[in-house]
Amino acid sequence: MATVTAGSLALASRLSRSTSAFKPFLSSVNNMVVSPSFYRKFGAKLRASSSTARVEATPGADLNENEAKKKTLACPICYDPLIWNGDPVFSVDSTPRSILKCSICKKVYSGNENHLDLTVTSGSKKYGEYRPASSELFRLPLVSFLYERGWRQAFSIWGGFPGPEREFELMRDYLKPVIGGTIIDASCGSGMFTRLFAKSGLFSLVVALDFSESMLKQSYDYIKQEENISKENLILVRADIARLPFASSSIDAVHAGAALHCWPSPSAGVAEISRILRPGGVFVATTYIVDGLYSYIPFLSPIRQNIAQFSGSHLYLSERELRELFTTCGLVDYTCIRNGRFVMMSARKPE
Ligand SMILES: C[S@@+](CC[C@H](N)C(=O)[O-])C[C@H]1O[C@@H](n2cnc3c(N)ncnc32)[C@H](O)[C@@H]1O
Repeated sequence: MATVTAGSLALASRLSRSTSAFKPFLSSVNNMVVSPSFYRKFGAKLRASSSTARVEATPGADLNENEAKKKTLACPICYDPLIWNGDPVFSVDSTPRSILKCSICKKVYSGNENHLDLTVTSGSKKYGEYRPASSELFRLPLVSFLYERGWRQAFSIWGGFPGPEREFELMRDYLKPVIGGTIIDASCGSGMFTRLFAKSGLFSLVVALDFSESMLKQSYDYIKQEENISKENLILVRADIARLPFASSSIDAVHAGAALHCWPSPSAGVAEISRILRPGGVFVATTYIVDGLYSYIPFLSPIRQNIAQFSGSHLYLSERELRELFTTCGLVDYTCIRNGRFVMMSARKPE
């Protein structure tokens, strides 16, 4: 295992992509061999033993990294970085003491026992807003409780989903260029991938994000139960996929597992993800593919979309529609792997 201070891998990876002089460096970083000059310059603390990179906090060197990380959280109304009042390090444990303020609209956001509420409506008492049934279903505490107790496993039986560990293995290849950076587990549900990202040590910050308070509570409970998960550089955020609380071009990677078909508007979600990804940042997502008759008969497609929107049910797209969705939202190098109705897609923001 090779251990590198938080952020140095992301920085090295970014430098190497943007400057040809750093190209040899990229392969070094990907293979976890770091040059002596890099070591001196960035104060990296290295421990070599296998091919996995573990990001580790080092006092001093990480102070600036923490400051930089905090600037990625932005007001979901103004998209301006939030002013952070709280512990210097992002951590699940410090969330209840965190207060964030937008310097433009002056709105204040705060953390509760388990997550930061960064929705537009956070703090509102009388005004409640509801999403279609495909989203609201997951706000039910019973569904959140059952999610890892049979619900998610059913995806493998009738959808061809390989299961979390195998899905994690598959996506690691796509995520190689952004190792060491910040990853958002968008629509994390009960946090099965959040925990795998945190345990892998591959990222300097893991953000578990969902619209459902009960899913976030379930994620928090699982994280607390697991001893081998560091609670630092890990936060849980409540947000709407169509209004993400991150500065534009600030995020290295976004993962959205089994979620796109639950979003009220897949294009609003993918466009937001495209906005927050930094140039070269990677989006990897899984969903169900339905290559029905409608994907070949033009007039059937809008009818199906209208029915889904009207009834609030999940919207399953065809492979052609998914590819076009990614590319029309400004992402490039679309690629996918299929297994029955399961598809894992990846694309990146152009440099
Ligand atoms: C089927 S679960 C996927 C959970 C997990 N990522 C997985 O791979 O199993 C879909 C998730 O999407 C979330 N979701 C639905 N609408 C959302 C929205 N508008 N913004 C953010 N998350 C949303 C739900 O709360 C739910 O947790």
